[in-house]
Amino acid sequence: MTNALCSQDEIKQLVYDFYDQIRTHDNLGPIFNAHISDWPTHLNTMVSFWSSILLKTGDFTGSPMMKHAAIPKLSADLFEQWLTLFKTVCDERENRALGDAAWGFAQRIARSLWMGYQIQQQPELAPSDLKLKIS
Ligand code: HEM
Repeated sequence: MTNALCSQDEIKQLVYDFYDQIRTHDNLGPIFNAHISDWPTHLNTMVSFWSSILLKTGDFTGSPMMKHAAIPKLSADLFEQWLTLFKTVCDERENRALGDAAWGFAQRIARSLWMGYQIQQQPELAPSDLKLKIS
C-alpha cells in the first residue's frame, strides 16, 4: 500500500524495531514478557494499531485502555521510559515524516492511557500527568 506518509512495511519495521528494544529493556521487558505469550499475534496487533493511526486503515479492533488497566503496577515513570524508548526508535527512521508523526501520536496516546489507568486503579485520587520530554 502506498501512502503520502509511509508504507505498511515502514510501519512494520517501526513496530519490530521498537519491540526488539522493549523486550530487553530492564524495567519494561519483564512486564511485556509476563503478559504476552503469543508474540507474533501481539506484533500483528501492534502493526494493525499503528496502521490504523498512521495510514487510517481502520482495521484495529482492540481495546488498549482495558488491556493496560489489567496490568498491575504501571506508573508514570514506566510510561515515560516507554516514551523515551519509542522516541529513540522514531528518531532512527529515515522517513522523518513517519518518525515525527508516530512520536506525536505516541505522546498523546500515552498520556491518555496513563490518565485512564489512574482513573481505573485509583478513582479517588486526582490523576497526574506525564512529564513529557518534548524536543
Ligand atoms: C508503561 C507503558 C506500557 C506498558 C508496560 C505496556 C504493556 C502492554 C502489554 C503487556 C500489552 C499486552 C496486553 C495483553 O494482550 O493482554 C499491551 C498492549 C497494547 N499496548 Fe501497551 N504498554 C505500555 C504503553 C503503551 C502505549 C504508550 C501505547 C500506545 C501509544 C500502547 C499500545 C498498546 C496497544 C495498541 C496494545 C494492544 C491492545 C489490544 O490488544 O487491544 N501501549 N501493552
